Amino acid sequence: AGLPGTNQERSFFMVKPDAVQRGLVSEIIGRFEKRGYKIVAMKMVTPSRELIEAHYDDLRSRPFFEGLCKYMSSGEAPVVAFVVEGKGIIKVGRDMIGVTDPLKSAPGTIRGDTGVSIGMNSIHGSDGVEGAASEIPLWFSQDEIANWNKTADKWIY
Ligand code: TYD
Repeated sequence: AGLPGTNQERSFFMVKPDAVQRGLVSEIIGRFEKRGYKIVAMKMVTPSRELIEAHYDDLRSRPFFEGLCKYMSSGEAPVVAFVVEGKGIIKVGRDMIGVTDPLKSAPGTIRGDTGVSIGMNSIHGSDGVEGAASEIPLWFSQDEIANWNKTADKWIY
């Protein structure tokens, strides 16, 4: 399971603290359900600084790294981490989210509809096959991922 290009492709997402704070958890996660995708893992976490640094490891050299880590691990609100499974989810998930800056995200995208600023942009989604492959095991152990079948499989991805 989890193979990119198959119906079992998986991607990692996280409702960020600003969106949890504004009561947007169901609005955001609901979009993936409505789209016909299958949620296979989900949990609310107050992430440690260490976990956030590992998650954003690729951005260590960027000037915004410190502020980003401080914000994401502040504990002012938790995050909701979730894994979505289905055909094309890595790319489709990024399209559903919109670009990094909500002011540049198209209406209809999650960030275009709910984002406040480049930092408080509502949601994270893996940006590719490699990102998904490292982020899913960083956030979830194997026994936290559910193996289940949508019974109307021919109607969904
Ligand atoms: P990045 O991985 O470039 O964007 P995305 O979340 O769209 O994949 O950056 C990770 C997060 O870092 C981004 O969601 C918000 C924050 N960030 C800033 O605070 N300032 C910036 O200039 C950039 C590019 C990102």
